[in-house]
Amino acid sequence: MDRMRPPVLVTRRLPQEALDRVEARCDMTLYDGEGAMARDQLLTEVAGKAGAITLLTDRVDDEFLDAAGPQLKIVANYAVGFDNIDVDACTRHGVLASNTPEVLTETTADTAFALMMAAARRIAEGDRFLRSGAPWIWGPLMMLGQDVHHATLGIVGFGRIGQALARRARGFAMRVLYHDMYRPPAEVEQELGAEYRDLEDLLRESDFVSLHANLTPQTRHLINAGRLAMMKPTAVLVNTSRGPVIDEQALAQALQQGQIFAAGLDVFEREPDIHPGLLACENAVLIPHLGSATVQTRLAMANLAVDNLFAGLEDRHPPTLLNPEAWEQRTSRG
Ligand code: DGY
Repeated sequence: MDRMRPPVLVTRRLPQEALDRVEARCDMTLYDGEGAMARDQLLTEVAGKAGAITLLTDRVDDEFLDAAGPQLKIVANYAVGFDNIDVDACTRHGVLASNTPEVLTETTADTAFALMMAAARRIAEGDRFLRSGAPWIWGPLMMLGQDVHHATLGIVGFGRIGQALARRARGFAMRVLYHDMYRPPAEVEQELGAEYRDLEDLLRESDFVSLHANLTPQTRHLINAGRLAMMKPTAVLVNTSRGPVIDEQALAQALQQGQIFAAGLDVFEREPDIHPGLLACENAVLIPHLGSATVQTRLAMANLAVDNLFAGLEDRHPPTLLNPEAWEQRTSRG
């Protein structure tokens, strides 16, 4: 392997500035296809690489790491979520793994707020209605939604993005409740005016529920039929985390039966497939996993992934490393 220009795989086209950085220092294989790389091709292309920039659509597990070979030093995921990466497997193989936190926090919180507003105020439905050409005239009872200002917002998962949403909610004079496995320091609760609730109480009390939990075995189907039944009939559910946190079948049913008022969804259980029940619901606002999709944020994510990649290739500590154990193993080997 040419140590001066290590071979790396980039599994999807990223903002050009970041690709130029990789190309200047590495022997880059870029998958330039439309969708995600087919599994077979991914396993073939990663063979012999010293580093890889992967996406949330690429599964990084023992099979991937074995296919890559022992020279693989780092897998730099282009996403804050890393449920596609088996971090323990990376550590076992002595491979560093990294993600892209922080740089997308504000943008993703903006998306969650936009979905809250759109679902509560029936924005997408109104747009569809006008485009349908149906006759209309202003009416006192036409397409009434729910107020966002002064309502109660329940945030499930109170990490960086959840807290950024709480900050936005203060501007709308909302009352903020939160639930998380980890309680932040009291100063954070105070600064954000956020009150802790257990999950069931949060669901019962909130007018809006926004999900910001990582996908783990514990959070899969966290919002199921039983928990949807606890929500107010006027409530709006928003998800910008990972699709499988919601049981989509149960949600489609709850929306159809008016058990809750509306939902705003950026992520889906079986992306890119959307549950047909959700597609049929006028009260579901659906967008294609756009949480971090701004020009500025996608470039910042790409540059952070490249920073991580270069650090891993050069045996420096990657800025946003997920498995410090792998770093310790590497440095203790000398
Ligand atoms: C992430 O980063 O995890 C998002 O889902 C894509 O920005």
